[in-house]
Amino acid sequence: MCGIAGYIGKNQAAPIILDGLSRLEYRGYDSAGIAVFDGERIRMAKAAGRLSVLKELTDNGRALPGCCGIGHTRWATHGRPCDENAHPHMNRENTIAVVHNGIIENYRKLREKLERKGYVFSSETDTEVLAHMLTEYYRGDPVEAIEKVLHRVEGSYALGILFLDHPHHIYAARRDSPLVVGVSGEEKFIASDVPALLEHTRTVYYMENEEIATLSAGNIRFYSLDGELLSKKPVTVEWDISAAQKGGYAHFMLKEIHEQPSALRDTIFPRLKDRRIDLDDLGLSEEKIRRLRRISIVACGSAYHAAVVGKYVLEALARIPVETDLASEYRYRCPICEPDSLVIIVSQSGETADSLAALRDAKARGSRILAIVNVVGSSIAREADCVFYTGAGPEISVATTKAYSCQLAAFYMLAAEFARVRGAIGADRFCGLLAALKRLPAQVRELLGCQEKIQFLANRYLAADHIFFMGRGIDYAISLEGSLKLKEISYIHSEAYAAGELKHGTISLIEEQTPVVAVATSDRLYPKTLSNIVEVKTRGAMVLALTTPGHEDLARTADYVLFVPETEPLFMGSLSIIPLQLFAYYVSLGRGLDVDKPRNLAKSVTVE
Ligand code: F6R
Repeated sequence: MCGIAGYIGKNQAAPIILDGLSRLEYRGYDSAGIAVFDGERIRMAKAAGRLSVLKELTDNGRALPGCCGIGHTRWATHGRPCDENAHPHMNRENTIAVVHNGIIENYRKLREKLERKGYVFSSETDTEVLAHMLTEYYRGDPVEAIEKVLHRVEGSYALGILFLDHPHHIYAARRDSPLVVGVSGEEKFIASDVPALLEHTRTVYYMENEEIATLSAGNIRFYSLDGELLSKKPVTVEWDISAAQKGGYAHFMLKEIHEQPSALRDTIFPRLKDRRIDLDDLGLSEEKIRRLRRISIVACGSAYHAAVVGKYVLEALARIPVETDLASEYRYRCPICEPDSLVIIVSQSGETADSLAALRDAKARGSRILAIVNVVGSSIAREADCVFYTGAGPEISVATTKAYSCQLAAFYMLAAEFARVRGAIGADRFCGLLAALKRLPAQVRELLGCQEKIQFLANRYLAADHIFFMGRGIDYAISLEGSLKLKEISYIHSEAYAAGELKHGTISLIEEQTPVVAVATSDRLYPKTLSNIVEVKTRGAMVLALTTPGHEDLARTADYVLFVPETEPLFMGSLSIIPLQLFAYYVSLGRGLDVDKPRNLAKSVTVE
C-alpha cells in the first residue's frame, strides 16, 4: 500500500528511484510520481496509472537529471487516483517536496487552518497539508520544521522530503508506516520495504516510530521528534536479490508457490532440536506454557485463515481453549484478556494496521503478545513481547502463498510443543508429529508435480460467475483460504462454507452446473462431507473434490477428483492448500488477469 523510494549519491537518481518503485509495485498502487533536485530546482513528474506511464513520461528517468530525489507509488485513500493527487506534493514556491505513506487523520482541520492563512491547495489529498505546514514552520532548519509539523499531525506516516535550500539531503520520518534507510558507501536510500534496496545494498537501518532521518552522501543522522540525536546500528538483511526476482517464473505467485518446500524447511528445521521443538527464543518458559488458560489468535485475511487452522490444531493437541478474531473486529470489541492468556498476532508483513492496533489494544489490557511474523524488524515484530519468525523470505505477489504455509507450520510447532510441555500428548505421539513435520516439505514438493493437471481443471472454470468451497474442520479452514485465493486474483465471486452449514441457507444457490470445490481429506469427517457433496450434486452442482488415497469412491459422485498424499491429519491443510493455490493461479492466468497485482488490492494494508 503506497511505496516510497529515495536516493542520494553519485549516480542519476531518477532511474534508481524508478527501479526501486518497480520493486514495490507488489504493494499495490494507482499512480506514481518522482521529484529530483537538478542542481537549481526541484523538478517533478507524476502520473495516474501504472509506473510504465511515469517511466514513459520521464524517458525512464533521463528527463529528470540529478543525483538526489524521492519517488512514490500511491494507493488512493483521500482523493481519487489522478495526476493531481499523485505524490510528490510541493508547496507553491516549489521549494519543498513531500512523499507520504499513511493517513494524516486531522488533515481537514489542518487544511482549513492553512487555507485561512492563504495557502492554496492543488490536490484532494491529506498529504498536501504537510508540504504547506513545512513551509509555515521552516526557518532554515529542516529537522526543526519537520519536528514542529509532526508534533501537530495525528495519524500515520512514512515520509520522504526534499528542501531546495538543502539540495544534497533527503529527510525522512516515520510513525506506524514502514520505512527503511539503506547504505552503500556514499550512496544512501530510503524505501518502504527492503526489496526496493536489495539491488544496491543489504545494510539497512529500520526506522522506529517517531524518528527523523537526514541522509546525505557523507552521512546519516537519526533524531527523535524532540530533536535528540539518536544512535542506531545498521542491520544486515539476510534476503538476497534473487528472492525478490521472478527467477524464470511467469509470475511471482507461481515462483512463491514453488518456494514452499524450502520456505517450510527454513521455518521448521531450525526449531527441531534434541527431540523437542525449540521455542526458547520466545521467552515462554515451560511454567508459563503449563499455566496458559486461553489463547486468542488475531489476524486479517489469509493470516486469519491460518489462525483458524491454528485453533483446530492447538485445541486438538494442547487442549487449550482458543478463540480466533479478525483484527478489525477485535480492536473494537472490548475483548476480555485474562491473566495466563496469550494473544497471538499473525501477519506476513508485520505492518497490517488492524493487526497492529489489535496488538496494542491487547497489550494495553495486560496480555502477553506472541507475533507470528515474516518480515524481520516490522512494526508488529517490534511491538510484540516475542516473535516466531516464519522463514518464507520476501513475498512479492499480493496473494500470499508461502507465508501462509509457513504460518500453518508455526502453529503446528507451537501446538506440538505446548502439548508436550502440558502433558496433553505422550512421547510417541510427539515423535510422530515431529516426523510428520519433517516430511512436510518433501510432500509439498511432490504435490507441486500436479501442476499440469490443475491447469487442465482450472481451464474448465474460467467462465464461472460464482464458486462455492466447502469442507469440515480443517478442510473448512482450508476452504476459506482456497476461496479467498481464487476470488482475489480471478475476480470470480467465491464463498467458503462449513459443509454442514450449507443446508441452512446457501444450498438454495446451488443449481445446474454451479461449481463447487469440496475439500474432503479428513478420514474422520469423510462420510459426513461425502453426504454434503451428494446433496449439492443432486441439485446439479459441478463438483471438484480434493481427497486422500483410500477414498477412490468419491469419483462416482464428484465430477473431478484430485488426490493429495496423506500426512498427520492435523497437518493435512499444508497439503490440500497447494492444489487450491495452483487452481486460483491458473484460473486467473486463463482469464488473462494480472495475477501478481490484482485490482484494488495492496500487499501491505497499512491503513484501517
Ligand atoms: C490474501 C492476503 C491478505 C493478507 C492480509 C493480512 O492473499 O495476502 O488477505 O493475508 O492482508 O496481511 P498480513 O499477513 O501482512 O498481516
